[in-house]
Amino acid sequence: MSIIASNFKTNHTRATTKEFIEKTNNYLIENKIKSEVLIFPTATSLDSFSTVSNLDIGVQNAYGAIKGSYTGEIALEQINEFALKTILIGHSERREIFKESQKDIAKKFEFYKNLGFKIVYCIGEPLEIKDQGLEKTLEYIFEQFIGIDTSYPNLILAYEPIWAIGTGVTATNEDIKEVHSAIKNKINRPLLYGGSVKLENIKEICEIENVDGALIGTASWKVDDFIEMIEKTKDL
Ligand code: 13P
Repeated sequence: MSIIASNFKTNHTRATTKEFIEKTNNYLIENKIKSEVLIFPTATSLDSFSTVSNLDIGVQNAYGAIKGSYTGEIALEQINEFALKTILIGHSERREIFKESQKDIAKKFEFYKNLGFKIVYCIGEPLEIKDQGLEKTLEYIFEQFIGIDTSYPNLILAYEPIWAIGTGVTATNEDIKEVHSAIKNKINRPLLYGGSVKLENIKEICEIENVDGALIGTASWKVDDFIEMIEKTKDL
């Protein structure tokens, strides 16, 4: 069964997020879809959404604290207000743009793990590492597991090569197969692929061995397209 996730990044408003979630929820109910669906809205669009059990709303980021003086961040108290229990950790945009170190990420992971959150944990290499070959790529990726408890049962992994994110350049099926099988060999958790997944390639990607679903940015932001992507992968 596929896991299909939409990362809104810095897109959508409160109104359009609500509409998006309601429409997706209705589609899942009306069509008795069993796929696990995850939506990560912006922090300002979070709310107490009522959804079917296989649709989870999560936060894209939060500080690893109950509350406190962390200007610009949200933390557990704000998440609890909406009874959310899902978080995205380690996204390359957090690592690269916001300079989150592996140590910061591991600390955040530990905090939300101890609270039983479902964690979607992202890993992925930049182009200059990919260009050095598979061995170096895997070395780089496995360094992103330092300090991370990979035996945590509520963990979903997402392999997102940085050079494929928002670029329109999807990794080849061969690239995906190699990296996914190497990760799966060591860590037996559901493993999503992300990076320029779109309507035209989602089914093919989700059919690759050791791919358990997709984490989609750009191509998922129109709700009808997101629903069509769930539809295309519902029987996998
Ligand atoms: P794109 O689908 O826009 O390439 O983004 C992927 C991603 O970063 C999802 O987290």
